[in-house]
Amino acid sequence: MADIQVFGVVGAGQMGRGIAQVAAQSGFQVKLLDAKQELAEKGKERIAKQLDRLVGKGRMDEAEKTEVLGRIDPVADYAAFAQADMVVEAATEDLTVKSEIFRQADAAMEKADGILASNTSSISLTKLAAATERPQNVIGMHFMNPVPLMKLVELVRALQTSDETFERTRKIGETMGKILVTTKDMPGFIVNRMLIPFLNEGCFALQEGLGTVEDIDAAARLGLNHPMGPFELADLIGLDTVLYIGEVLHREFGDDKYRPPATLRNYVAAGWLGRKSGRGFYHYDERGQKITSEA
Ligand SMILES: NC(=O)c1ccc[n+]([C@@H]2O[C@H](COP(=O)([O-])OP(=O)(O)OC[C@H]3O[C@@H](n4cnc5c(N)ncnc54)[C@H](O)[C@@H]3O)[C@@H](O)[C@H]2O)c1
Repeated sequence: MADIQVFGVVGAGQMGRGIAQVAAQSGFQVKLLDAKQELAEKGKERIAKQLDRLVGKGRMDEAEKTEVLGRIDPVADYAAFAQADMVVEAATEDLTVKSEIFRQADAAMEKADGILASNTSSISLTKLAAATERPQNVIGMHFMNPVPLMKLVELVRALQTSDETFERTRKIGETMGKILVTTKDMPGFIVNRMLIPFLNEGCFALQEGLGTVEDIDAAARLGLNHPMGPFELADLIGLDTVLYIGEVLHREFGDDKYRPPATLRNYVAAGWLGRKSGRGFYHYDERGQKITSEA
């Protein structure tokens, strides 16, 4: 078991909510912070809906649901992290945003061995560690989407990460029921280094008229045996997040093979971000169920 009691989460979006849910199910006291208190409150409401589904499927009983929800505390500011053993940030994929979050969490955390983890998909942990006074306690903890279902977590060692931080984080991940792989701090780590070129290539194929959205998704599902095609998966991740990760890979490696496709940029500019906004390459109803394709 991990030696964790208070577990902070910054960002109550799809990843932050999933991390908060699994942390609470693992017995940790969760402090959930977003840019505004109401967003953290809404995040908890959406976690409650997820737990209702588990109850509906007979995978959790009402008493456990109440207990898990009772461990999630939406909070208004960083002061709530004073006694945190670990804080995981899962805010927008932007170095400036994440550095500022790390700076504030670092200042608020009173435990000298408190760990600051980032769920970043591509940003340098070494740079984020340098924004804090506890660089040895900084590590990447890259959960997959949806967090309650996906087993993998990539552990990313910053240059400054101590062996103690690494070992404690590994135990925390295991307590959360995850299977861990370790990766060096290189843009995109392992998963997104492979995934983003695949998603981009789907867009390039679409731009070139190789097939429709449905054709390309069906080809990936039935021809490559992937559970989801590139457009279904990009819509699930969030097209803004896919674009931000692609921009980091393109800039940091300086290699045009990572250039984000114009179609992706246009969809993001239009606010068509995928499931979370109701429209991306497909249209979605309010429960997030796919209705039709767009292109
Ligand atoms: N979507 C995925 O499939 C996926 C998978 C693995 C990792 N990630 C990473 O997780 C992170 C979050 O992604 P997401 O899909 O949950 O995004 P999201 O857009 O669903 O949520 C981001 C949340 O961060 C909040 N936020 C933004 N700035 C903030 C600030 N300064 N302080 C506090 N909260 C702030 C937003 O209000 C929002 O609630 C990103 O770094 C992303 O790369 C995403």
